[in-house]
Amino acid sequence: MQRLIPVLNNDHVPLHLISVINTLLIAAKEISFRLHQGSLAGTLGSTLDENVQGETQKKLDVVSNQLIKSMLLETNLVHAVASEEEDFVVMGNPDAKYLVAFDPLDGSSNIDINGSVGTIFSILEKPDHPAEGTELFLQTGDEQIAAGYILYGPSTMLVLTTGNGVKMFTLDHSIGEFLLTVEKVTLAEQTQEFAINMSNRRFWTSPMEHYISDLLSGELGVRKKNFNMRWNAAMVSDVHRVLSRSGIFMYPADCKNPEKPCKLRLMYEANPMSFLVEQAGGRSSTGYERIMSIQPTDIHERVSVIMGSRAEVDSCLGYYKKYQCDRPDTPKV
Ligand code: F6P
Ligand code: MN
Repeated sequence: MQRLIPVLNNDHVPLHLISVINTLLIAAKEISFRLHQGSLAGTLGSTLDENVQGETQKKLDVVSNQLIKSMLLETNLVHAVASEEEDFVVMGNPDAKYLVAFDPLDGSSNIDINGSVGTIFSILEKPDHPAEGTELFLQTGDEQIAAGYILYGPSTMLVLTTGNGVKMFTLDHSIGEFLLTVEKVTLAEQTQEFAINMSNRRFWTSPMEHYISDLLSGELGVRKKNFNMRWNAAMVSDVHRVLSRSGIFMYPADCKNPEKPCKLRLMYEANPMSFLVEQAGGRSSTGYERIMSIQPTDIHERVSVIMGSRAEVDSCLGYYKKYQCDRPDTPKV
């Protein structure tokens, strides 16, 4: 089986970019080790602090964030990093060109139940125009030059795109290397499996409400086929299932909390996952626009997410055309 670096060399990925990706993987191996130690590592449970977005922070979130951030900056190849756990952009080498946005430990509430979690990353280049701090990162998802995630599940996997399809690698703990296990990830166009947090149903807007209601009606309804549902409550592992065996993953805008109509973050959740899904032949949208076309205005901005098998995303989007409603993700004037 092929090791990661020769595979990326073969794909003509620039050497410095390979080094940045490899640095993320060195940090990931350490995180994977600590996760596998579980309670034995003595780092599980919540700290008393809250992260910048008001969610309870687990100790391993803090450790993972610190590790990834410092290792990336030490390479001298990174101009700036943005993380879910950091209020502001952290600057690195002024002469370097890479920008890395990451979610150090996505789905961290799964740590307590020994469930899957992951590290999501998106790599951009310094823009041509003069920009500083946050402005550096305010680029559309289409500008990403690489994106992926490391899934810490029963096995530790890297799922990566550098704009030339999607590859999956599995960590061989005995040699400490990621080996190529899926050369070309291809999403089936059709699916009979969906992922959504159904407990938010009464807060959805009418397009999503009608769409899910038709899926639940199965072969007795207009879709004339039965659908299965899965929800791991960690985007990284829900999207991994979609990339592995097709499906549709949704976290739509809702009106549960008008201050926060969307849950998932554009820069380090929605954009990198959209890049992977599109590179695997799938589709990704907010319901109204393609996610990777969105011009961000903040590094921590949140978006509505509908992604996965192309034909199924298209049929969901059909409901957004058919049922007009007020968009909870658009500020009211
Ligand atoms: O990062 C946010 C996140 O943990 C995602 O990984 C996941 O999809 C979602 O929140 C789970 O949200 P909920 O609590 O609604 O299941
Ligand atoms: Mn997350």
